[in-house]
Amino acid sequence: MDRELALEIVRVTEAAAIASAQWLGRGQKIEADDAATTAMRTMFDSVSCSGTVVIGEGELDEAPMLYIGEKVGNGIGPEVDIAVDPLEGTNIVANGRANAMAVIAVADRGTLLHAPDMYMEKLAVGPKAAGLVRLDDPIEKTIDIVAKMTNKRVRDVTVIIQDRERHHQLVERIRKKGARVKLFGDGDVGASIATALPQTGIDLFVGTGGAPEGVISAAAIKALGGDMQARLVPDNEDEAARCRNMGLDDPRQLLGLDDMVKGDDAIFAATGVSSGELLEGVRFLGGDLTETDSIVMRAKTRTVRYIKAHHRLDHKPHLVMEED
Ligand code: FBP
Repeated sequence: MDRELALEIVRVTEAAAIASAQWLGRGQKIEADDAATTAMRTMFDSVSCSGTVVIGEGELDEAPMLYIGEKVGNGIGPEVDIAVDPLEGTNIVANGRANAMAVIAVADRGTLLHAPDMYMEKLAVGPKAAGLVRLDDPIEKTIDIVAKMTNKRVRDVTVIIQDRERHHQLVERIRKKGARVKLFGDGDVGASIATALPQTGIDLFVGTGGAPEGVISAAAIKALGGDMQARLVPDNEDEAARCRNMGLDDPRQLLGLDDMVKGDDAIFAATGVSSGELLEGVRFLGGDLTETDSIVMRAKTRTVRYIKAHHRLDHKPHLVMEED
């Protein structure tokens, strides 16, 4: 892949973020998601690549576009796999909360995990504990390893986990062990990536969330030198069969970072929709001036770029929310 593709991809997440940020706090998550998806899809038409969406929205969100198997890009340029979440945090935007982003991972054709949109168990850590943690280890053992490798006392280890009933037991065990729990409402891409960014103070991410979010996070964590393990959670025989149809002979196999993102040529890009752990959200500065903050990383070179951009919405009328 050309390195220029990284900057092209940021234009796509910027467009999705600007379009969906106009729905912030309006209580309309479907409209916010549609706006992000449409903007992302339209912007992709001008990106030089022959992309195939290998994991993205569909069943969980019932998003109208950017489904698994969809072709994106202008058809000129490298053949690539694409994992998308046009709006990571639809409820966040509907409720005007923090941490929503537009996110994409792009990698050489055949190198991103091809899987249906379903739940996935996940564990992520930063570079210091990379290669040493296992999804199947008891959480208490994982916390000990993370404490040792980060040179922290167990009581100073922070575990980030999504605030869901399915995680209650896990949360209890983490607290009993003596580590700290940071609960978040939505947006596990940002939460898992935070483990690989030292300034966040977050050491470990655990829990079950969406599989597309898992694959997208894996691309970023690879670029940051962290580690991640995961396992799909097919809910019934039909979901298991869909995994097999997509090439996963054992739908419950343990997935390492290299199973989710093979090789080193992967790009991750995200633009903040509402301000959060990783990025500032879209700011409407008056008139047509709009400011965005994005992050783009490339696993091959491990370069991480933070990009602040000013957009003139009078020059991008297709991104402006239509008035009733
Ligand atoms: P959306 O982008 O689809 O709104 O997902 C938000 C999210 O919190 C993800 O980050 C997470 O993986 C998933 O939902 C968890 O699903 P659920 O809300 O069903 O627990």
